[in-house]
Amino acid sequence: MSRNVYLVTGGAGFIGSNYIHFLFERYENVKVVNLDKLTYAGNIENLRDIEENENYIFIKGDICDSEIVRKIFQEHKPDYLINFAAESHVDRSIGNPEDFIRTDMYGVYVLLEASKKFGIKRFIQISTDEVYGSIDKGSFTEESPLMPSNPYSASKSGGDRLAYSYFATYNMPIIITRASNNYGPYQYPEKLIPLFVTNALEDEQLPLYGDGKNIRDWLYVKDHCIAIEFVLHHGKTGEVYNIAGGSEKENIQITRFILELLDKPESLIRYVDDRIGHDRRYSLDSSKLHHLGWQQEHSFDVAMRETVQWYVDHQDWWKPLKSGEYLEFYKKHYPEGMSLT
Ligand code: NAD
Ligand code: TYD
Repeated sequence: MSRNVYLVTGGAGFIGSNYIHFLFERYENVKVVNLDKLTYAGNIENLRDIEENENYIFIKGDICDSEIVRKIFQEHKPDYLINFAAESHVDRSIGNPEDFIRTDMYGVYVLLEASKKFGIKRFIQISTDEVYGSIDKGSFTEESPLMPSNPYSASKSGGDRLAYSYFATYNMPIIITRASNNYGPYQYPEKLIPLFVTNALEDEQLPLYGDGKNIRDWLYVKDHCIAIEFVLHHGKTGEVYNIAGGSEKENIQITRFILELLDKPESLIRYVDDRIGHDRRYSLDSSKLHHLGWQQEHSFDVAMRETVQWYVDHQDWWKPLKSGEYLEFYKKHYPEGMSLT
């Protein structure tokens, strides 16, 4: 039986590395090519345990580099392309949108063009619930209009719709997924959950934006990986699928839960200025994917406990990250803030 070749772009990041682990756990007969630029968010430590696997190939490179992408298609002839590569942090997009527009839009174009030229059985564009913008009541369906409100979500919307256009115009086998906020192992400690867990472990303050009542819907990264694989094999070409976590929480609830799990005092919470253009609430209706047959496998409480424990057990993974460029960024935004070294 011929084995499937997956081209995973951005596979050294949080969700991409979880997805590659998931592929090797699920399939014996699979080859994975990981194209990743290794920005500050990409970390080959995330895949250290499989780097000797002969069915895994890591290529350091930029999805905007059409030469590298062409060579990969010619040499490895991927069956499937799953595009995780992106600049992904909203706060950074507010300070420096350029890289977001480049990777999250132009990079998608380069991958689409190569797929059109060399052929692909399925192209999954990993989009996000943030493309819909904020919603006060109810939940967004796949038919809801896109109203992105920061440079990250706007550039992701561009990549999302560009991918769709290659289905509509060239009849390419494109599927788009829009997931809610993920949590789990290997998430770079600039995002809410790993930042707060690691700060709390170091008895540093937890900078909660605004009134702490913004709402996010939390999806365990392993459920996200299962959903992507499900959509790859059972989804319909040209369709968009929302992937909801079904666990909407105010940021203050998440913060208190983390402190409780780590047995740390609430005095670590520090209310800071709100993020500019901060979306109040994200909420997805995932019934389309449920009707297709996907079910979430992990409950929020259990998966959060496991996640927090993972950061407790892997301090050697995150401690080096809380220095260098990250430290500079952090200090700039919170000048009187906490020392991280
Ligand atoms: P991440 O920032 O942890 O990882 C992104 C990866 O992409 C990194 O390894 C980085 O080195 C790589 N990368 C960046 N620019 C690149 C380029 N030009 N060429 C090649 N590689 C490049 O992000 P993540 O949280 O794992 O998110 C992965 C995808 O999922 C993104 O597309 C994001 O928009 C989407 N998404 C994320 C969430 C979430 O909660 N994290 C939710 C929904 C959707
Ligand atoms: P984040 O993890 O950056 O994801 P996103 O902005 O893509 O949803 O933030 C999640 C929520 O947590 C968001 O409402 C902003 C808030 N937040 C804080 O209150 N403090 C922080 O230091 C960070 C990083 C986020």
